[in-house]
Amino acid sequence: MPAAEARIQARLERLRAEIDYHNYRYYVLDDPVIPDAEFDRLMRELLELEAAHPELATPDSPSRRVGAAPLKAFAQVAHQVPMLSLNNALEEADVVAFDRRVREGLGRGPIEYAVEPKFDGLAITLHYEDGRFVQGATRGDGYTGEDVSANLRTVQAIPLRLGTEAPPRWLEVRGEVIMLKRDFERLNAEAREKGEKEFANPRNAAAGSLRQLDSRITARRRLAFYAYGIGRVEGAGLPETHDRVLAWLEGLRFPVARERRVVQGVEGLLAYFAELGAKRAGLPYEIDGAVYKVNRLADQRALGFVARAPRFAIAHKYPAQEELTTVEAIEVQVGRTGTLTPVARLKPVFVGGVTVSNATLHNQDEIDRKDVRVGDAVIVRRAGDVIPEVVAVVRERRPRPEPERFDILARYPVCPECGSRVVREEGEAVVRCTGGLYCPAQRKQAILHFASRRAMDIDGLGERLVDQLVDRGLVHNPADLYRLDLATLAGLERMAEKSAGNLLAAIEKSKHTTLARFVFALGIRNVGEQTAKDLARHFGRLEALMAADEGRLTEVPDVGPVVAASIADFFREPHNREVIAKLVAAGLAWPEGAGTAPAAGALAGKTLVLTGTLPSLGREEAKARIEAAGGKVAGSVSKKTDYVVAGAEPGSKYTKAQELGIAILDEPGLLKLLEQGDV
Ligand code: IVH
Repeated sequence: MPAAEARIQARLERLRAEIDYHNYRYYVLDDPVIPDAEFDRLMRELLELEAAHPELATPDSPSRRVGAAPLKAFAQVAHQVPMLSLNNALEEADVVAFDRRVREGLGRGPIEYAVEPKFDGLAITLHYEDGRFVQGATRGDGYTGEDVSANLRTVQAIPLRLGTEAPPRWLEVRGEVIMLKRDFERLNAEAREKGEKEFANPRNAAAGSLRQLDSRITARRRLAFYAYGIGRVEGAGLPETHDRVLAWLEGLRFPVARERRVVQGVEGLLAYFAELGAKRAGLPYEIDGAVYKVNRLADQRALGFVARAPRFAIAHKYPAQEELTTVEAIEVQVGRTGTLTPVARLKPVFVGGVTVSNATLHNQDEIDRKDVRVGDAVIVRRAGDVIPEVVAVVRERRPRPEPERFDILARYPVCPECGSRVVREEGEAVVRCTGGLYCPAQRKQAILHFASRRAMDIDGLGERLVDQLVDRGLVHNPADLYRLDLATLAGLERMAEKSAGNLLAAIEKSKHTTLARFVFALGIRNVGEQTAKDLARHFGRLEALMAADEGRLTEVPDVGPVVAASIADFFREPHNREVIAKLVAAGLAWPEGAGTAPAAGALAGKTLVLTGTLPSLGREEAKARIEAAGGKVAGSVSKKTDYVVAGAEPGSKYTKAQELGIAILDEPGLLKLLEQGDV
């Protein structure tokens, strides 16, 4: 080899070793020592050198991790040592029996076990010769698998060269290819964005990614790997125990579960099961159980195998978190705020340790995305204490003829609780009932809000009382509050004659109110205290407000199309009008004609917007003075704004005012305006 080529060869070797090391720090130890930019520089240099000298490229170069041209099919690989499966223990008794068999088989006890998580991915075997990765295969039927070497090369956590000066001549490492939870979430989020099909769980995602004929796709999926054992080994002395085998693999730069332990006897196994179960939700990867292995390799050999599983190991499984069942119906639940949440009624199924017969479908977008229909076979998931949910539909099992798509609005044009109209606001995922005052599902919430301090201010009407009044059928809507008498109230829990009298007086007192408070008390969606004030001032009379269409409503400062639609929907609903009529009949009254502010004042009818810091007036004082003069302070600049008052460091409202050609004042300008009503 000429000297120049030898130099390049040496540089290539050096680069590959460095990149391998940094990959290992990053993907296996999760502890990088150089910044990404530096890593990218090394990789770029390697790629350039290899491109300039294709004759010096090697299959175990880290540059190969990006994937190669697609294959036509996977080649078959016969496993040198079969890849067997494990027997399962589903209950404690199975574990106790396993330990007894082991003790009897070895003629002694207690036994030392190596214990580790049972990864929920797919088993693979990795074959190294003289420290270099030569081939990797799936488990297949246990005796013959598929050659997925090109794909495995793209898995950053799998070493392409072993981290040792003196590698074994032949080494087969066994482990699990998985997808970390965070990479799974990311992959599905991307699929959602592109409108593509999502994977049901990380295991399916890992399997689907590893069995790609185009390894460039695998490379983009970010698979992970954990080693849990060995196959054929030649040219290396093996340690005496399984835990030391894993430690040895770790030294060769393979990722090995941090959660592994060595424990004694069946008590140790069960304690580990509980400990791992408690950590399960917080682990970066999915597990479906724990694996227990007799620690001493000589004991493992002595125990041997039955059929296709070892006698020296067992998988102790957690109750499945996902199960298959069918959707018998889709119904809706009306929440306290009027939201209609679709719920799948399921054929009961045991999942995550309990029997599940309902699963949330969240909202219409979710139903559309997963395309869940009545009669569908679905995967339901219940993880930990999380509400069960439908993960995916098994499309192949959809009944024929196909059931219709499920559309909440079409199926429930009116609320199943109260018969009021149901709407879906523009740009919103949720569907709502518009019968705010009347709907039983919203009853307690509506009454509590109605009585609250800033609304009708009925002192003493708290959550406990509302619960009792509603549960006993004494109050169905706010109007019923005005029909309560002393005897009824005194008969409630925790109510004496005196407190009942006080409450009655508070109810009576609330009859004299303002239009703004009354409008706020109705609990119209998107109508807070300020908007209620604006509406009262603008319309002056309740009848005028109730008659206003969306166009008229948007004339009110700060009322946009969404708020206007909520208001119009609310008053369009006959049930709400009925309750309002009853309230008025009960004697609720407010000063008519005028709104909440003086009709005349220097700023009557004017809308101002404040931005930046005013030199001497605080924001609150400025606001109070403007309101005292009959003006209104709005939160954002629009065509309806009359003046923008700008202090130091004004924000985007200032620019907006300039764009719209709205008069801009400073503090002296505002003070003058307050005095004269003009500038
Ligand atoms: S040991 C001779 N250890 O479980 C058996 N397997 O049913 C060697 N698995 O196909 C398997 N985590 O895919 C072993 N820590 C672990 C494991 C594990 C997951 C899977 C593996 C295997 C299946 C056995």
